Amino acid sequence: MHPAIEVIQLKRLFRKKQARRTWRTVVALDSVDLEIEEGELFGVLGPNGAGKTTLIKILATLLLPTSGQAFVDGIDVVKDPFSVRRRINMVSGGEHSGYGILTVRETLWMFSQFYGVPGRVARQRIEELLRVVGLEEEANTKINRLSTGMRQKMNFARGFVSDPKIVFLDEPTLGLDVGAARDVRNFIKSWVKDRPGRTVLLTTHYMTEAEELCDRVAIIDRGKILACDTPENLKRRVKKDSVFHLEVEGLASWDGLRGLAGVKQLVATPRDGFTELRFILEREDVLSRLLGEITNHGSRVLYLKKTEPTLEDVFIELVGRSLEVDTAER
Ligand SMILES: Nc1ncnc2c1ncn2[C@@H]1O[C@H](COP(=O)(O)OP(=O)(O)OP(=O)(O)O)[C@@H](O)[C@H]1O
Ligand SMILES: [Mg+2]
Repeated sequence: MHPAIEVIQLKRLFRKKQARRTWRTVVALDSVDLEIEEGELFGVLGPNGAGKTTLIKILATLLLPTSGQAFVDGIDVVKDPFSVRRRINMVSGGEHSGYGILTVRETLWMFSQFYGVPGRVARQRIEELLRVVGLEEEANTKINRLSTGMRQKMNFARGFVSDPKIVFLDEPTLGLDVGAARDVRNFIKSWVKDRPGRTVLLTTHYMTEAEELCDRVAIIDRGKILACDTPENLKRRVKKDSVFHLEVEGLASWDGLRGLAGVKQLVATPRDGFTELRFILEREDVLSRLLGEITNHGSRVLYLKKTEPTLEDVFIELVGRSLEVDTAER
């Protein structure tokens, strides 16, 4: 038995144009190794530019690797892309595929026929998918009349009309409102659970999404996989440390705090009128020294809480910066 997805020393370089006709090489994927078993709901979590889309595009045969190998359902994506395509489907958040003059239902029908789904099965599946993503009322709307979120839901449904063996979802909940994102997540979960042998690889920069949804998560940054495990095990790495969340008023600089003995990581986010600080401390007793340091400089602590580590803290510990800060700038 082969894994559903196997990636060996995968590398992808891009040449990026700089000012004045100079070029720079960007390492989008840097010797990535990955093995995903059949039936897994696997998440790739990382900030903007980490290499998530590049990885998905190579696996979906839309982009060639610079070096290394990738196999989908045991098939080499470079040597036999057509066999790979028969087994997969892919959805990208925010894509604008489709023909504006077709309705939602017609679009899904068209794609089902591209994949050769028998008519009766296709009709039934389309109605079910329309219900799941909450587009029943929009079924007869032309797709150029859809809002961004509705179009996103339709694209998502399109990814499942062929009932693929392996599905690639690139940021599937991007741009969806809270309720729609929840429906989509629930659908992904039950889709994998109800159909043995199906596999989902999704990318996200939403920590909670990875945590709630995925059997295993790979944390990726600057083309490198930094850790790969179940959300539980990833969090256990940080559990031995103490994670504190503080809100401080009148703090001009936090560099001194970062240098204190016992402070493993600090992420500071300036907010309106105060600064939010997230500390990972080696030991709990470092806290008193830390608070002393803050108040000695005339700052005031507005809020202090010891928190259970989240995947965000795992990311902070591994990378030294916050994923939330990165994505807030989106
Ligand atoms: N076609 C391209 N030409 C040049 N550079 C590219 C190209 N595609 C991606 N890159 C670069 O490769 C790196 C990885 O990009 P990628 O799109 O894989 O990141 P990502 O993790 O999907 O980010 P995001 O969260 O923003 O979608 C980035 O530095 C990006 O600028
Ligand atoms: Mg991307």
